[in-house]
Amino acid sequence: MGLKEKIESIRSEMNAFKVASAEELETFRIRFLGSKNVIKDLYREMKEVPKEMRKDFGQLINALKNESEEAFTSFKNQVGSDQSGGASEKIDLSRPGEEFPLGSRHPLSLVRNEIIEIFSRIGFNVSEGPEIEDDWHNFSALNFPPEHPARDMQDTFFIEKGENEMALRTHTSSVQVRVMENSQPPIRTISPGRVYRNEAISARAHCFFHQVEGLYIDKDVSFADLKQTLQYFAQELFGKKAKIRLRPSYFPFTEPSAEVDVSCTLCNGKGCNVCKYTGWLEILGCGMVDPAVLKSSGIDPHTYSGFAFGMGIERIAQLKYRVGDLRLYSENDIRFLDQFKSAY
Ligand code: PHE
Repeated sequence: MGLKEKIESIRSEMNAFKVASAEELETFRIRFLGSKNVIKDLYREMKEVPKEMRKDFGQLINALKNESEEAFTSFKNQVGSDQSGGASEKIDLSRPGEEFPLGSRHPLSLVRNEIIEIFSRIGFNVSEGPEIEDDWHNFSALNFPPEHPARDMQDTFFIEKGENEMALRTHTSSVQVRVMENSQPPIRTISPGRVYRNEAISARAHCFFHQVEGLYIDKDVSFADLKQTLQYFAQELFGKKAKIRLRPSYFPFTEPSAEVDVSCTLCNGKGCNVCKYTGWLEILGCGMVDPAVLKSSGIDPHTYSGFAFGMGIERIAQLKYRVGDLRLYSENDIRFLDQFKSAY
């Protein structure tokens, strides 16, 4: 069959086509307008046509294509306006769409992401590690001597006792040990993640929570660098008016150690029931990495010094979003979660 006959045969097939339902309309569409339609084949065959006749054939095929589009539109109107309640499917294209229920990010993810962003702007990367840890990474490398009461402070969940003692990590300082073991300074990293402590569940305590801990090691890192970094952090997170204060504290892995308060975000330091009329809210622990910790992770404490800090994400989220009860974070109550829809 020549190309001309083919065009005619497709035309008569098209003219003979009867469309009375949405399914038939779809069959028509696939045959004449779909991605593998018959008219496309004709264009392909144009290659065989002698050059001087190509223009004429092109016009013939274009005409056929236009006819198929017109036929489709008129079939479509016919099927669409058929209100007789027959078998054909009726779609009212003018109806507004149904709202698609969109989820929202969890408040802890929102706060974690914000903390990561703030520290990444000053050159900190993110490191992660296992939630099931050995004694070395969670305690010994961090200068907790065996049988030291500070281990009790952490209310550890042990998984395996004895020689190969394994436990759920009680802080993400364990990740920082892994980073120190596997790299040399300069180190600038934060480790966000879930940690576990054996505490009775109440509004103020849970058996797991989330932390972001930070570590900075280089030559000549001082306590002033630590304080400035934390001040930058507090002001990025809580606004330029936020002030910080440091109180002496104790951690086995830092010396000196401090606890950091931020001026109350609610009353701006004037005193209210959230800050218990002190004007200050405790947000994190920090200190200069103990030289013994550097040494046990393979970093020379005579050449390098560093600081570390750690905070609870729940606590920060509580201050940012006024969440009164820790349990809300893990109950998956949609009424609670829905409140964070516009937060990002
Ligand atoms: N690891 C400590 C905790 O979980 C926090 C901390 C980190 C304190 C780094 C000082 C330095 O309580």
